[in-house]
Amino acid sequence: MEDRLDLAMALARGGGQCARDYFRGSHLDVSPKGAKDIVTAADHAVDKLIAAGIRRSFPDDGILSEEAGGSVSDILWVVDPIDGTENFARGLARFAISIAVCEKGRPVMGVVYDPMADELFSACRGQGAFLNGEPIRAAMARKADGALIEAGYSAKYGAASYHAMTGRLFQAGFDIRQAGSAALGLVEVAAGRIDGYVEMHLESWDVAAASLIITEAQGGINDFFASDGLSKGGPVVAAADGLWDSLAAAASLGTAARY
Ligand code: IPD
Repeated sequence: MEDRLDLAMALARGGGQCARDYFRGSHLDVSPKGAKDIVTAADHAVDKLIAAGIRRSFPDDGILSEEAGGSVSDILWVVDPIDGTENFARGLARFAISIAVCEKGRPVMGVVYDPMADELFSACRGQGAFLNGEPIRAAMARKADGALIEAGYSAKYGAASYHAMTGRLFQAGFDIRQAGSAALGLVEVAAGRIDGYVEMHLESWDVAAASLIITEAQGGINDFFASDGLSKGGPVVAAADGLWDSLAAAASLGTAARY
């Protein structure tokens, strides 16, 4: 997996350069993709760059990406070329490139790159989590009171359920924000910058890399890949180790057990 990690880091940086070239430019070519979902020329360009790099070095591996799709295989690269496309398209400097490798349906390597901050989060199973090569660790928070979490908004479930969920979270004592990139919110849990992240539905390309980075940073996340997470997505609850149970209870998303 070391070779794949090296490649993923190089492709994430190359993709980041490509995204930066488009950022706030006049060739974004924004188009609708679904309900409250858009895609830009940069998403396609970064996706192509990453897919070409993977095919050159590992032609037998499968690829599943947000923009080009794909099908599940034993060794599968799971790619979100730009997570936080809405931010990106509006010129907001909060988006990321997310690249993971899953083996038999579970992430074993993951890289999330924030090209505007030049921050590269990475992990290989069993080897710890890193930010620009330095070890990271999830926060030690144990109580909802004083904990800061992100509650991502999933258009799939709509505003009423989001209001109900955030109402429960506020009631339990959590402080909440919403910043528009699930991959970055999740790695911020891994780095201990925030205490938790919840969202009613995310796709595997939003979650695969960051979920491994969180567990390798000794944080907790629900078992997203237990059933159909890889192909169908599902709810996500991620938190500092000592906070996971109370965050999962307050969010009440019917998540599978903690991984
Ligand atoms: C989206 C972002 C957003 C989250 C959405 C995702 P995309 O990913 O991660 O923060 O709330 O559910 O779809 O579409 O920008 O790759």
